[in-house]
Amino acid sequence: MATSRALFMAIFVFAIAFHSSVVSANFRKSMYFNWGAQHSSISGNGDDAQLVLDQTSGSGIQSKRAFLFGSIEMLIKLVPGNSAGTVTAYYLSSTGAKHDEIDFEFLGNSTGEPYTVHTNIFTQGQGNREQQFQLWFDPTASYHNYTIHWNPTEVVWYVDSIPIRVFRNYQSEGIGYPNQQGMRVYSSLWNADNWATRGGLVKIDWTAAPFVANYRRFRARACKWNGPVSIIQCALPTRPNWWTSPVYKQLTTSQQGQLKWVRDNHMIYNYCTDVKRFKGQMAPECSKPQY
Ligand SMILES: *[C@@H]1O[C@H](CO)[C@@H](O)[C@H](O)[C@H]1NC(C)=O
Ligand SMILES: *[C@@H]1O[C@H](CO)[C@@H](O)[C@H](O)[C@H]1NC(C)=O
Repeated sequence: MATSRALFMAIFVFAIAFHSSVVSANFRKSMYFNWGAQHSSISGNGDDAQLVLDQTSGSGIQSKRAFLFGSIEMLIKLVPGNSAGTVTAYYLSSTGAKHDEIDFEFLGNSTGEPYTVHTNIFTQGQGNREQQFQLWFDPTASYHNYTIHWNPTEVVWYVDSIPIRVFRNYQSEGIGYPNQQGMRVYSSLWNADNWATRGGLVKIDWTAAPFVANYRRFRARACKWNGPVSIIQCALPTRPNWWTSPVYKQLTTSQQGQLKWVRDNHMIYNYCTDVKRFKGQMAPECSKPQY
């Protein structure tokens, strides 16, 4: 009796703790259109979403609530064919001048030419930390998994579970880190033909409109932001905060190998090596190990 009661209590307590920090999100429950709702849609039990760009407008979706630490996962099938001038953005952001932001942006291209995956991170309003990649598959042919994981020690951008970029916490050395503000999840599809494709040279071909990006299986396995009290709550190294557990503190040896493979073969721009742009004044994290 006593044991089963204790067991029941343990399960009950765990269930509550777990429930308070993890959202079984899908589009219908957890997000809403903040732009271009008239031509966007959610379907398939709330697990599928479509963003559309035509000459009248782009579109965007955002999460109802904000999060601090965990994994934000999304399967995306990008605009196929001639997508030059379009940008599909997928990012986390807080609000205000000193905002934090973690970005994936997919810059379209002419038919048959590769998309550019543009990544950036802002900490307390400070960005200018772009890294760009080309993918090792056609991102328009099927859905692929784009996940942002962040915890008190590092931020990792994953593509199909392969880490493509890492930003580690060097706050103790005066380098900003996104651990003080809850961020909402956003995605949008818009016209950026003044800069996106070959630096703005290739314009959108409106005869190919409407442009459609398909989304599936949004999951926020992340800590709900409830104001500043969450800075401590979401960082506790206790059971429900799996993201603070030791295995998530750093990449495994094999993940470090994957990261190196991506950097060696698929990275096309790195702010840390753009000496000309920064006139030799490189960001301080550039001289810190990111594996
Ligand atoms: C997406 O990738 C993340 C990070 O590797 C992983 O935890 C998650 O299970 C993946 N989701 C799907 C549906 O494959
Ligand atoms: C588009 O394709 C061209 C030619 O392959 C390439 O130089 C460029 O980086 C690609 N991506 C964008 C966004 O312009």
